[in-house]
Amino acid sequence: MANSLHHLRAGIIGTGFIGPVHIEALKRLGVQVTAICGSTQSAQATAQKWGIPEVYGNYDYRSMAASPNVDVVHITSPNKVHVEQSLAVLAAGKHVVCEKPLGMSSSETELVVAAVKNGGAKGPVFAVNYMCRFFPAVLQMRAMVQRGDLGKIIHVQGHFFQDWLLHQTDYNWRIVASEGGKLRAVGDIGTHWIDTVSFILGAQPKSVFAHLETFYKTRLRPQGEVKTFARVDRKTMEPYKVNTEDFGSLLLKFGKAKHSFATGVHANASISQVAAGWKCSLALGIYGTLGSVRWDLQQPNEIIVGRRDEPNQILQRATAGFSEDVSGFTDYPGGHPEGFPDSHKMHYRAIYEYIASKKKTPLLFATADDGHHEVQLCEAILQSSKEQRWVTL
Ligand SMILES: NC(=O)c1ccc[n+]([C@@H]2O[C@H](COP(=O)([O-])OP(=O)(O)OC[C@H]3O[C@@H](n4cnc5c(N)ncnc54)[C@H](O)[C@@H]3O)[C@@H](O)[C@H]2O)c1
Repeated sequence: MANSLHHLRAGIIGTGFIGPVHIEALKRLGVQVTAICGSTQSAQATAQKWGIPEVYGNYDYRSMAASPNVDVVHITSPNKVHVEQSLAVLAAGKHVVCEKPLGMSSSETELVVAAVKNGGAKGPVFAVNYMCRFFPAVLQMRAMVQRGDLGKIIHVQGHFFQDWLLHQTDYNWRIVASEGGKLRAVGDIGTHWIDTVSFILGAQPKSVFAHLETFYKTRLRPQGEVKTFARVDRKTMEPYKVNTEDFGSLLLKFGKAKHSFATGVHANASISQVAAGWKCSLALGIYGTLGSVRWDLQQPNEIIVGRRDEPNQILQRATAGFSEDVSGFTDYPGGHPEGFPDSHKMHYRAIYEYIASKKKTPLLFATADDGHHEVQLCEAILQSSKEQRWVTL
C-alpha cells in the first residue's frame, strides 16, 4: 500500500506558515510535490527551497489545477479563497486537501459539499485538514471510548489556548472578519477542538450556548502582509477596529453517537488566543462512568487515564499502553517523541492511501460534510453569543 502513494503527485497553493508544513509531511511520506502556487516571489522562493519543479506565480491556481503533473491539490491559502479554489480544483477533476475552516459561511461551503456529491462515488476525494484526529493519542482515546473502556461518557471538558495575539500590536489577517471569517479564535482553533472531540465521541454537536468576548476593541496593525507567527515592525503601526473575538466560552450538546457509549454527551470548552503562556494547548478530558482520559497537544505522546477506585495511569505512545489499532499511525518507538508535523504526515498518509486504494481504506479524515458542519456550528455559536440563548443546528 505504501508504495502506491509514490505515484500520486501533489500541488500546493499557499506559501505561508502552513504550506511548507504540508510540503515537508508529503516529502517525508515519499509523495512527489510537483507544483507550488502563490505570489510570484514567494512561490519561486518556496520552489527553490524545497526543489519543486512547477511554479505558478500571481496566485494562478487554475493553471496549477490543470497541470497534467498534479493529482492532489493542497489549499493552504487564507480562508476567504478556500471555497473558490476548492470548486476550481474539483472542476478540474483533482483531489483536494483543503485547510480549515472550509470557508467563510455555510452558504458557500454547501457549494463544496454539492460539488463533491456531484462527482459521485468515483469522483475526487475531498479532505479538510483537521489533522488533530491523527495524533496517536487521539486515535487511542477514540478506541477507548468506542470499546466502552470508560463506560458511558458523561461529559467532556477542555480548552484550546494560544498567546500569539496577546499584545495589541500583534497582527494577522485572521483578526479582520472580511479576511478570516466572523469568528476568529473559535473559527481558527476552536473548530480543531470541536472536530477532535466529535471524532473521539463519534458524534456531532447538535446545540450550543456560547459567550464570545473581544478584549482589544481597537488594535494596531503594520502595513502590508504579515505571515502567521511572524514578528512585525511596530514603528509603522496604524489603529483599526476589531470585529472578531479574542476568546470564547462554549457549551455543547452532542447528538447520537455511532456507538452506544457516547450519545447525548455534554461538553464545555474555553477558546483563547490571548492566554499568556500557552502556545498551542488543545487540551481535553473525556469523563465516563468507569474512568476518564486526558490529553494536551503540548505533551502529545501521552494520555492520563483516571480511575476512581484504582491508581491513575500515564499511557505512552508506542508502548504497551497504546492499542494495536493505533500502531499504523505512529512511525517511531516509544520515547522518541512525535508531534505536530507527524500528525500532518499521518493525516496525509490516510488520505493518500484512501485515494490510492480507490476509497477502500477506512475514511477517518474530515470530509467536505464535516467541514461544512463546522462552519454551520460557527454560525450557531455567533448567533448564540449575540442572542445569549441555546441555538440548535
Ligand atoms: N491545520 C492547521 O493546524 C493549521 C495551522 C495554521 C493555519 N491553518 C490554515 O491554513 C491557512 C493558511 O494559514 P497560514 O497560517 O499559513 O497563513 P499565512 O498568512 O502564513 O500564509 C498564507 C499564504 O497564502 C498566500 N495567499 C494569499 N492569498 C492567496 C491566494 N488568493 N491564493 C493563493 N495563496 C494566497 C499568502 O501569500 C501566504 O503565503 C488558513 O486557512 C489557516 O486556517 C491550519
